[in-house]
Amino acid sequence: MKKPRGVADILPGETERWQYLERVIRELTRVYGYREIRTPIFEFTELFQRGVGEDTDIVMKEMYSFRDRRGRSLTLRPEGTAGVVRAFIENGLHKWPQPVKLYYVGPMFRYDRPQTGRYRQFHQFGAEVFGTAEPVADAEVICLLMDFYARVGLRGLQLEINSVGCMSCRQALVAALREYFRGKAGGLCSHCLERVERNPLRILDCKEEGCRELLKEAPVPLDFLCGGCRSHFAAVQKELAACGVSFLVNGRLVRGLDYYTGTAFEVLVPGIGAQSAIGGGGRYDKLVETCGGPPTPGVGFAVGLERTLLALAEQGVELPGAAAPEVFVAFAGERAAGRVPAILRRLRAAGIATERDYSGRGLKGQLKQANKRAARWVVIVGEEELDRGNVSVRAMETGEQVEVPEVALVSWLKERLGQ
Ligand code: HAM
Repeated sequence: MKKPRGVADILPGETERWQYLERVIRELTRVYGYREIRTPIFEFTELFQRGVGEDTDIVMKEMYSFRDRRGRSLTLRPEGTAGVVRAFIENGLHKWPQPVKLYYVGPMFRYDRPQTGRYRQFHQFGAEVFGTAEPVADAEVICLLMDFYARVGLRGLQLEINSVGCMSCRQALVAALREYFRGKAGGLCSHCLERVERNPLRILDCKEEGCRELLKEAPVPLDFLCGGCRSHFAAVQKELAACGVSFLVNGRLVRGLDYYTGTAFEVLVPGIGAQSAIGGGGRYDKLVETCGGPPTPGVGFAVGLERTLLALAEQGVELPGAAAPEVFVAFAGERAAGRVPAILRRLRAAGIATERDYSGRGLKGQLKQANKRAARWVVIVGEEELDRGNVSVRAMETGEQVEVPEVALVSWLKERLGQ
């Protein structure tokens, strides 16, 4: 049996790298005051149609949708924000003290053409802030995002920011885009041809060669901002500068999801191939309402964890690997064998990573095993030592061996393991 295309097994050796990213995420979100939310892997399809947008590539081409046994259309979440917004409304989080700051880590699903950095099941770390429209919130989520990359050790990242404007600046922009593309319909892909009348903004992030060519001369979203959006965007930039975060304003930057209003940003990392966007996000002040909740502004981001790991590998950043056992318990003789289970349990209960032999090897074979597993210490339970109430402990690095009273074994080891 083979796995489907675009999904991955994450094996021991690699899971440690994932756990490391997750530890950084938990620690960083803690100090920033974000609390974890866990939403379902599947939702009603309508949530993404309404939330992410009917005209987006994600909804038009990339969703894993299926009918359940009662004929309802469900979809494996292609991203996290829509589900978090649904949960925010359904659970009355708008009644909590605002702002509500949430984060999540988990798998997302998109039926995209797999290649390096692009998968059909991938993982995101995302953060969302609800209930404040202040530019400081935009800047804070960007700071958290950039702190995450810095903490894991990535260098040379490029943060691009833009404002795609609110609904009122959007009108003039949409009209200008329609006007521009109407005259150039011949050069557009079939999807974008439909988008000219329905949602010309979506053409701005089309990946097709012909459309990209036309975009070079197309109206630029940043040129259409109303006064309010312009001053909000200026304030975000001022705040980012105050936080010491460097960025580049890219007036053409748009994102692949329909819900953005105002600030939009993306983080690019050179050197990992075509899929260089390792994170992105923005403000979505109408999404809660669109999904049936009370008017509530929101801003957030998501990081692609596979791409983050790819970039770390590309930059040669060493992450913690598999941890060797700290202690291996070996024994010689039947009476000694009888003591092993209690010693193992005691060591493990004390938080010491402890291994044993499972194949009935002699002492020599067990020591070989300990060596293979790269254990730091071997506890040798021998009958003569037991008569003295002791066990032997050998430091594998030096080969030095001492007798330690069995009752003092845990504290003796802990001291030397620096616990
Ligand atoms: P997104 O830009 O669609 O935004 O995805 C965020 C990140 O997920 C991307 O920058 C990329 O690193 C990763 N990603 C996306 N698709 C794939 C894929 N097929 N394979 C591997 N990695 C991928 C969102 O999803 C928004 N929900 C972000 C957001 C949160 N905006 C506001 N709040």
